[in-house]
Amino acid sequence: MPLLVLFGCQWGDEGKGKIVDVLAGSADLVARYQGGNNAGHTVVVNDKKYILHLIPSGILHPDVACLIGNGVVIDPEVLLQEVRALEEGGLDIRERLLISQNAHLILPYHRLMDKAMEVFRGKGKIGTTGRGIGCAYGDKISRQGIRAIDLLEKDRFAGKLRIALDYYHPIFSKVFDLNCPSVDEIMDKIFPLSAEIGEMVVDGVSLVNEYLEQDRRVLAEGAQGVMLDIDFGTYPYVTSSNPTPGGVCTGLGVAPQHITDMLGVAKAYTTRVGSGPFPTELFDETGETMRQIGAEFGATTGRPRRCGWFDAAAMRRAVQISGVRDLVITKMDVLDQFETLKICTAYKYKGKTVDIFPFGIEDSGEIEPVYETLAGWKTPTTGAASFDELPQAARDYLARIEELLKVRVVIVSVGPGRENTIIRCSSFWN
Ligand code: GDP
Ligand code: IMO
Ligand code: MG
Repeated sequence: MPLLVLFGCQWGDEGKGKIVDVLAGSADLVARYQGGNNAGHTVVVNDKKYILHLIPSGILHPDVACLIGNGVVIDPEVLLQEVRALEEGGLDIRERLLISQNAHLILPYHRLMDKAMEVFRGKGKIGTTGRGIGCAYGDKISRQGIRAIDLLEKDRFAGKLRIALDYYHPIFSKVFDLNCPSVDEIMDKIFPLSAEIGEMVVDGVSLVNEYLEQDRRVLAEGAQGVMLDIDFGTYPYVTSSNPTPGGVCTGLGVAPQHITDMLGVAKAYTTRVGSGPFPTELFDETGETMRQIGAEFGATTGRPRRCGWFDAAAMRRAVQISGVRDLVITKMDVLDQFETLKICTAYKYKGKTVDIFPFGIEDSGEIEPVYETLAGWKTPTTGAASFDELPQAARDYLARIEELLKVRVVIVSVGPGRENTIIRCSSFWN
């Protein structure tokens, strides 16, 4: 019963979507376990670019089923827009796209509140994607959320909306001086979507467990990354879910012993969108070069991504929390033209050297990266078809990452396309 978990090890945008698409070719079910349409997973197939926000990145393979798990928050309007966009592109997805009954919904007031709270935070803003993620998860935890299953019955949906809006109305008007949408407005806008969405709603927990019992391959797709995890990331500059593999058990309803393997995805350097500490961030020409060559602009909001060197000390948290042994390193080609490269191996923090990202850091200025310098390879890598075809300095760079993190690099990505993927070892599917 292979259950392979794929998750981001940095601050998101590691190239998870591309790798899920590659691996989905040998999976039966791809299941998203957390996040919402704050995610932007880019998949390039035959030079055609798809950006998936909510729908699992396995959807481009016609024989693969896709589940949006209970740990995901779903904006019904966005979901149907995404379904339509894929259908217009000629994909037949209705029969094989499924939604867990227990997944919570993002409703219009969550989006409005997310944006209002960002304005309220002023200089301390998180830089959220404005998609209502934190507010929908907040309602889930405070037990006033509305779930996919609730949308299917008109009276139940209206009743729950009324309770939620009785709470939200005074907050909108008295704290934020804003209008809150009414029950009728939301009913008119969202309830008509229930027929289409209802066809996709299933008992997601039984579905995943049946696949596993039948010994079919399940790939759990994470969104965001460990450093954005609500518990382990750079709080409060994080998202509101658990991208770490622990989120798989709660986000899909599978027992921990079912997880047969994990793949942590990291870029060969580091990026971050939004506010918050980023110790290896580069503010100079080198950072700008990474941004331009790596096309580092957010897939969801279009914001320029902050860029910096590979941070092994931050990555140690990902390894520690997840126990991951196999890494995927993406975007190696983006470093092709650099003369020399740096890797952060530790930080200077409160007069000491520490080799793991300390908790409680809210500003990059609190810690100073300790770097080592490695030789660049100054050779294009995109055409490399095997690990041995990578230039020696590129292999040395990867070997150093392996050594620093005590992991194996099993997949190397050298371009955005499916074909630009070097699978060095595929034991992770066993
Ligand atoms: P995700 O959120 O983790 O799925 O990552 P994004 O899709 O937001 O960002 C990764 C970006 O890098 C996308 O535009 C991908 O098409 C692109 N990409 C992925 N792997 C590679 C690679 O190895 N080389 C290059 N040049 N681009 C890549
Ligand atoms: P993928 O899956 C990168 C960031 C936002 C912000 C913080 C909180 O594509 O890797 P939120 O809207 O979640 O409340 O925003 O998290 N963020 C991401 N950054 N990639 C993502 O997803 C992200 N999803 C959220 O920029 O800093
Ligand atoms: Mg992304």
